[in-house]
Amino acid sequence: MKNQKVVLITRKIPLIAQQILEENGIIVKIGSKSRVLSKEEIINKTKYVDAVITMLSDKIDREIIDKMPKVKIISNFAVGYNNIDFSYAKEKGIVVTNTPDILTNATADIALGLILAASRNFHLGNKMVREQKFTGWAPEMLLGVELFGKTLGIIGAGRIGQAVANRAKSFGCKIIYFSQSKKSEFEKTTDAKKFSLENLLKESDIISLHLPLSENTYHLLNKENMHLMKKNVIIVNTARGEIIDESELIKMLKNKSVFAAGLDVYENEPNLKKDFTTLQNVFLLPHLGSATFEARNKMAELAAKNVINVLKGNSAISQVN
Ligand code: GLV
Ligand code: GLV
Repeated sequence: MKNQKVVLITRKIPLIAQQILEENGIIVKIGSKSRVLSKEEIINKTKYVDAVITMLSDKIDREIIDKMPKVKIISNFAVGYNNIDFSYAKEKGIVVTNTPDILTNATADIALGLILAASRNFHLGNKMVREQKFTGWAPEMLLGVELFGKTLGIIGAGRIGQAVANRAKSFGCKIIYFSQSKKSEFEKTTDAKKFSLENLLKESDIISLHLPLSENTYHLLNKENMHLMKKNVIIVNTARGEIIDESELIKMLKNKSVFAAGLDVYENEPNLKKDFTTLQNVFLLPHLGSATFEARNKMAELAAKNVINVLKGNSAISQVN
């Protein structure tokens, strides 16, 4: 067929994406089965393609965008899109899309999991048993804190933040939130109250981050305001590592002013700060927020459909720029 469109998927994703792209007459190229492409590889592989499906680990900057002359759409296989210079892409007439909604439940589950893990020392208990150091039940072994009656501060009450709050509500948490806008429906269903960031930090027993990373949210939690937090606060981050000043968090974990942290994301992934791996009061996951069969299949489908729509001259389903 003449004029067949070509899409590069930078890294292998669930097969459904390839299937529906090919059903729509689009040629699919897979960048790599199992690793992140280098900048040079992305540039070389996108030179002659009409669309690209990117991972959150692909940094798509101006230089790359300038070197993909035929690309009409950059379809990110993630809800976050801080890895793409989406304003510059817009200037160049390139649509940028993400995969919202369909990973909300998966990510909310993992945030709740991190809250439980950090508050109840899952990591220490698991390690003890595996290392055969469990010598029997003990009255004061690995004591944690319970969720019932605690105040959960949701920073960023979008879809994911709200889904975390709904789950936590059934554990008996009182919900407060910080957000740009008042969320009336959310307040009705969860009795959540809107707070300023400072007041939320002062009042929360548990803090969970659910904001996109942008210039405005980089180090939103920092040296200045983290000291407003309650002693023994629990902090959970399933959003992006850069939203919290990790060096400050490490200090506060060391001096125990933070009881524990549960982290799924880091600044400079995958090169995390060494202290995180040695501190006892932090539970670590390798960016698994959306890592369910359900979510990843739906993300693959949506990422592909965005490409199909745009290459057919229609509007994307979830454009962000
Ligand atoms: C995961 O972090 C995502 O943004 O989808
Ligand atoms: C992401 O989907 C959010 O709005 O929380």
